Formats: sequence, structure tokens, C-alpha cells
Amino acid sequence: MTTARAAVDLDVTGPQISRHLYGHFAEHLGRCIYGGFWVGEDSPIPNERGIRLDVVEALRAIRIPNLRWPGGCFADEYHWRDGVGPRAERPTMVNTNWGDVVEDNAFGTHEFMDLCEMLGADPYVNGNVGSGTVQEMSEWVEYLTRSGDSPMARLRRANGRDEPWRVPFWGLGNEAWGCGGNMTPEYYTSLARRYATFCKEHDGNRLVRIAAGASDADLRWTHTLMASATSSNTPEPQASPFQAISFHYYTHAGTGIQKESATAFSREEFLRTVAHAADIERVVSAHEAVMDSYDPDRVIGLVCDEWGTWWNVEPGTNPGFLFQQNTMRDALVAGLHFDVFHRHAARMRMANIAQTLNVLQAMILTDDEGGMVLTPTYHVYEMNAGHQDALSVPAHVVAAPVVTIDDVELGALSLSASTTDGAALISLTHVGVDEALPVEIDLRGRTARATRARVLTGVDATAHNTPETPDAVSPVPLEASVEGGILRLTLPPVSFATVELALE
Ligand code: AHR
Repeated sequence: MTTARAAVDLDVTGPQISRHLYGHFAEHLGRCIYGGFWVGEDSPIPNERGIRLDVVEALRAIRIPNLRWPGGCFADEYHWRDGVGPRAERPTMVNTNWGDVVEDNAFGTHEFMDLCEMLGADPYVNGNVGSGTVQEMSEWVEYLTRSGDSPMARLRRANGRDEPWRVPFWGLGNEAWGCGGNMTPEYYTSLARRYATFCKEHDGNRLVRIAAGASDADLRWTHTLMASATSSNTPEPQASPFQAISFHYYTHAGTGIQKESATAFSREEFLRTVAHAADIERVVSAHEAVMDSYDPDRVIGLVCDEWGTWWNVEPGTNPGFLFQQNTMRDALVAGLHFDVFHRHAARMRMANIAQTLNVLQAMILTDDEGGMVLTPTYHVYEMNAGHQDALSVPAHVVAAPVVTIDDVELGALSLSASTTDGAALISLTHVGVDEALPVEIDLRGRTARATRARVLTGVDATAHNTPETPDAVSPVPLEASVEGGILRLTLPPVSFATVELALE
């Protein structure tokens, strides 16, 4: 067994890892909202005001910092007034993007804000640019955030909520290059400026307005948005009508989304998947380089508000509902993404996995009888929670085995680290499939004690949790010790681990 060597500079603190990099996304899609979060007040499944309680409790344990809603593609056909007022009187609509099903608007603005309060998460509301008006978006902001007397504040009160809410994050449409309106970057950028202008900051509610940007590394979007953010009438990025730019990055094994099984895959597909996931570093770096050229002080944030794996739906389920299983492979994809997000914390302000429940790379899979399964990805969020708002520190792989798939070469080990209050957290992702990997991490002269180490692994990369075997993949203790300034541990094949250190 070759030993991997790495180094972590615990005294060289870098930027804060925003907790919002651990954000979530819940769309009106399949069983994420309906049958996921929302079971309705009359359901036999334990709920509070219609919101499923076991799900809330499990998500509170991973401290979800923000929740994006109502889409995705759905956001650009959603009209918020349909989802307020007495439920029995709310109009219906067709969810044309996801299953062509009838949406009854039972879950609307008040239900979403109630959910955020129960989760302790900040709301990230995604407005409708594709098919909604500027006035409609402007009034939604007013409805949510204005106190005192105003037409929308009065309407909110008539619907049962006296106090305004705080809404820190506001999305200006979604995937404008596709389902959000098939626009050009130039056309969308003008619209984003205009819509953002009318999203007002009522009564001290500070808004981070997020412009919808690229798919993957389509840098035309970032260039066009950044050029506009720093254009002649707003030369300083501080004056930009939007404060952040998003991009989306989905992972698959190379042949495309909805073409590959979530649970039955070859060794080659596994390796291609983790290579694709690790490649988000190239994409983030490319967007950053463009942003740096316009905004060297990093005023405008970069947000990846949709990321994760996209597999075939589980056999027998609605193809429009995107319900997929979640294996150790997905957990490693999450581990690799977080390492990249931590390394780029200076520019990256937020990331939202798609999606929280029952859709794509979910944390939790629920059933209609009240059952619930935590996925391997859930455990990565729980094990990594200590990075939220901690200070990133440099972590380097010095030497490690390399896995090769035809044209692709990938290091078997990835890691990242942070410190806070005399403690440190190191996360390690091992994508080697054949052998355990002994690891030695040089703590660069810092004296430390390992207080807790855990590892997430399974029989192989396809291991996953089901109602019958809910703990097939769940964290277990891992042996780790520090001697002479070197942290030593051994990672099983296909594993994700965290080590907590007390710094002395
Ligand atoms: O997350 C599922 C969909 O993927 C979202 O609605 C859309 O924005 C993206 O294409």
C-alpha cells in the first residue's frame, strides 16, 4: 500500500468558509415539496401546519443555512399571488417542466417562510424573470419584507402575517439560457439589471440579488454580466444592480444526464463520475478569473445554486419527477465539491445542492407511509458541518496514488481543512477503489490532538441506504493519531472521512 502524504497549514488562515456554501434547493418538482416537505395538515404523518416533522428534525441536525425556492425551471413559470390567501381558493396551474402535473398551489409563500423558520434557514427566493413582470417581482419583495402601511404589507396582513419576514437572498430568474427563457447573455443581462432595480430593500432588509449565469464553464455569461456590473453608469461593483452571479454544474459519468443508473455502474463510470465532480475546480477557477478581471476586490459573489449528480430515475417512477437513489459514489461527489468550495471561499459565497428531498442528489428519501431514509450525501453534510463559517486553511496533497481512466488522471486523495476557536476540521475524500490508503498529514509544526475521527464507506461504491437497510452507509469511528506533528490514519477504498483536532 502506497502512503499518501499531505500538509495542512493550520496557522495560515484564509477566507471564511461561508455557511451558505452548505445551502439547499427545494423546487416544485416531483416529490420534493409535495409528498416531501409538505404532507398537508390532515396527513397521518406527523406534521406541523402541514410540514413533515421528521424531515425538519433531520435537516436541523445538519444546520441547513439557506433554502432556495420555488425553482429551478419552475421559478420562471411561477406567479406568487397564486400561492397566497385561503388554500381552497388558490388557482391551479400546470407544472410544464416537471411531469406536466397540476399544481394546486397549496404550498406557497407563507408555507415556504414557515418551513424556513422551522429549519432555522435563511430564505433564498427565486423570482420569475422568464414569464413574470417587473411589477410582480417588485410586489413580491414588498409583500415579504415591508412593514408599516403599504398595499402589499396590507395584503400580507389580510393573509394572516403581521410582521414582515427577512429575505436575504433573491434570485433574478433561473437558467435564462434555457428553461428560463432561451435568452442571449446580452438580453438577459439587461433584464437582470432592470428587475434587480425594482427589488427594493424595504425597512433595512438587505438583499443579495443573484443574477442567473452560466451552465458549467460557459464564460460568455460571466463576461457579459460582469461587464455590465461594472459598466459606465455603475463603474464600481459596489453599485451593481446585482450582488452575485450564479452558475449550475451537474455531475454524471460522461454520457449525459438521465442516461446512467444511480446504483448499477461500472468501475469506469465510477471513476469518470468522480473525475467530472473534481473538474468543478476548473470551472470555478475559470469563472473567478473572469470576475477578477472586472472586480479584483471580489465585491460580486460567485454562487453555484444548483449542483449534484443527475442519474436515471428509479425504475417505475415518473421520469419527470427525477427521483434517484444515492450511493457512496454520490457521497464522494459531495466531498469533492466541498473541497473545491472551501478552497475558493474568497469568491464563492453560496452553493445549493439539487435537491434536498426526493429529487436528484437528495439528503433524504421519503415515502408516503411516513418512512424516511438518510442518504450517504446527508452524512457528508453532517460530518462537514463544522466547516460552516470557519476559516479555511491551506491543505495540499504532496504525494498520492493516481487513478487513471483512459484519458483522465485523478489523484486518489482530496482534502480540505478549516479552523475555528482552537479546533480544526479536516475532510478527506478517497476515490481509490482497490486498496486502503494510509495517509500522513504534516501539521507544519502545530501541536494537536485528534478528538474525533469518523469515516463513511460501504461495501463498494454502489452501497446505499434503503428502508430495509437504513444504515448500510453511515459514519463510524476511525482511528487517527497525531505524533511528532504528523496526523496518521488509513482510509478504506471509496471513503469520506473527517478528523476533528484540538489545537494545543
Ligand atoms: O434541479 C432540476 C432542474 O435542473 C432545475 O429546475 C433547473 O434549473 C436545472 O436544469
